[in-house]
Amino acid sequence: MKKNETILLAGGAGFIGTHTAVALLEAGYDVVVADNLCNSGEAAVHAVEEIAGKRIGFAHIDVCDAQALDALFCAHAFAAVVHFAGLKAVGESVAQPLRYYRNNLDATMALLECMERHGVGRFVFSSSATVYGEARPPIAETAPVGHCSNPYGWTKFMSEQIIRDYAAAHAGFSAVLLRYFNPVGAHESGRIGENPKDRPNNLMPLIVNAAFGGETLRVFGNDYDTPDGTGVRDYLHVSDLAEGHVAALDYTRTHAGAEPINLGTGRGTSVLELIGAYERVNGVRVPCETAPRRPGDIAVCFADAHKAADVLGWKAKRGVEEMCRSAHRYRAMAQGKERTDDGA
Ligand code: NAD
Ligand code: WQD
Repeated sequence: MKKNETILLAGGAGFIGTHTAVALLEAGYDVVVADNLCNSGEAAVHAVEEIAGKRIGFAHIDVCDAQALDALFCAHAFAAVVHFAGLKAVGESVAQPLRYYRNNLDATMALLECMERHGVGRFVFSSSATVYGEARPPIAETAPVGHCSNPYGWTKFMSEQIIRDYAAAHAGFSAVLLRYFNPVGAHESGRIGENPKDRPNNLMPLIVNAAFGGETLRVFGNDYDTPDGTGVRDYLHVSDLAEGHVAALDYTRTHAGAEPINLGTGRGTSVLELIGAYERVNGVRVPCETAPRRPGDIAVCFADAHKAADVLGWKAKRGVEEMCRSAHRYRAMAQGKERTDDGA
């Protein structure tokens, strides 16, 4: 393990970035976060420092801002960049496509341009299983990509293509395109977790909301061709995902080119199974009701996770129960803190 390298985490104040920052600090790296806080808060960056017992750099900038990025690259000798900075709400991307293409594609290109100017040649990109469209599971990296059902998905597909083309034009440049399946859960400390500014769209945060007295969870479809009729996905603990980034950064030290790699468990869990596990491990009820299928949803999606094991030496270690327990703990601690802050 190489120590003392400084890694730039673009969008590092968010859900996956903060967990990756902790994992990198624990692996001996130094970390600088650049984030415009459009979907996060600086408190999460301080929580990372407290968990890891180390200081990190923080720049409140938009990574599409070339001048601000240049100043950051002048101030730090980055060994590599991990690029999380993006808007990620699928429904919003359908309503505001230009905002998504502008932000997500500009961020990718501005980072690559700045890396080129400053001679930084290692890159890890947050891609998504959404690039596979309706591929048949288990989905390997060799499955066809494209056929995305929304602008968000296309920004991932297009960013991957931009990175592949850049790598092809720059001998020695190394990029890993990490295709995440369904990241959920929170750090075991309960200090960092998923905390979107707007109403969440993904299943786990909506389960948590329902469990804590928020709106009743709507189960989108109970007539899919699956064992219990509800949709099946490959849920992945965010701390496992974070460790996958450490492995990917190690890989970029010795391999050139742009390599797509799935990060998933290789196992599928249905909506009702996830709700059941959440209720069981946390001893709570999740009020839910059946609703029509959500447009654009597919029945089943899970990874073929062999490439990450073979190429990165990475495998998910945490199970669905730990995902549910940690997501619940994060919310419980956040609510407790709010009450303390209010003097209640
Ligand atoms: P998040 O919203 O919690 O984190 C993204 C961070 O990027 C936020 O802190 C946001 O403020 C920041 N950001 C966005 N645009 C920026 C810009 N122009 N300049 C600076 N900062 C900017 O989301 P996340 O769940 O941590 O996702 C991280 C990445 O992983 C995203 O690119 C997302 O598309 C991708 N991804 C997420 C999931 C998921 O289900 N969470 C699945 C697959 C891929
Ligand atoms: C999971 C399952 C829903 C909400 C999305 C993006 C994908 C990626 C991950 C970023 C499905 C069901 C959900 C609800 C429900 N993001 N569900 N009630 O759709 O697999 O993937 O997030 O890259 O691009 O598309 O995840 O968590 O939204 O849904 O029944 O209120 O839960 O139908 O079966 P999805 P999800």
